Amino acid sequence: MALVSAKEMLNKARKEGYAVAQININNLEWTQSALKAAQELNSPIILGVSEGAARYMGGYRTVVCMVKELMKHYNITIPVALHLDHGSYKGAFEALEAGFSSIMFDGSHYPIEENVAKTREVVEKAHAMGVSVEAEVGGIGGEEDGVVSSGELADVEECKMVASLGVDLFAAGIGNIHGKYPDNWAGLNFELLAEISEAVGRIPLVLHGGTGIPEEQVLKSISLGVAKINVNTECQLAFASAVREYILAGKDLEGKGYDPRRLLKPGAEAIIEVVKEKLTMFGSINKA
Ligand code: 13P
Repeated sequence: MALVSAKEMLNKARKEGYAVAQININNLEWTQSALKAAQELNSPIILGVSEGAARYMGGYRTVVCMVKELMKHYNITIPVALHLDHGSYKGAFEALEAGFSSIMFDGSHYPIEENVAKTREVVEKAHAMGVSVEAEVGGIGGEEDGVVSSGELADVEECKMVASLGVDLFAAGIGNIHGKYPDNWAGLNFELLAEISEAVGRIPLVLHGGTGIPEEQVLKSISLGVAKINVNTECQLAFASAVREYILAGKDLEGKGYDPRRLLKPGAEAIIEVVKEKLTMFGSINKA
């Protein structure tokens, strides 16, 4: 199956009351694991790629080719969207040209007028190419690829302004942060989420910072209109822990245990388990 826009799969998810996982990919193993887990559970999936991850993997075109070829090789039949995560203005256009099927333009750090103007331009170009657009208001806290934000609560009027530009999915800061949540985290602000949901109409909402959000908060956010949940750090932690265990057990020193195909295998398998857990929690199994 070819890459698809995230629009239809997320409209369906919002209507039917589940969320599609955005699993951020970092390399070949990540991509294989995410695709295999989703195919096995017959679930749609969104592969998220930050600008830093795209640079690491050799640029947007390399990523597009890798994902498309892996889908052919593994005979992937579920809907897969390849989505730029937290794209800059320049990065959004580059990823569009390279063949991404979904784009996030993150203008949340600009004054609202500039966020509106730039989001409008990205929407116009992307829609002409059949590509879905995610916009953001109110920064997501934490640090991702050097982009640091202390986390804001989105302003509802600003959400209305940006959501009305024809964006297909919409992210707003509601107390969520990237990375691990601190012990004193106050949790998601559901009052604000309900207000935003009401203000933006039926646009599927996006919950960033999916790592470590307790299941009851995930389910409540889905009931309030969240239809895409982004997960990155949790796969990284599982991968690192499985590879560390392999090395600490001295397995890289046994026979050909140093072969990267063996050394990275426990990490790749750990990612499959995390992705399956998320697809199950988010309710997208058999929704392909
Ligand atoms: P985590 O790294 O906290 O899972 O967040 C991922 C994310 O929101 C990507 O945009």
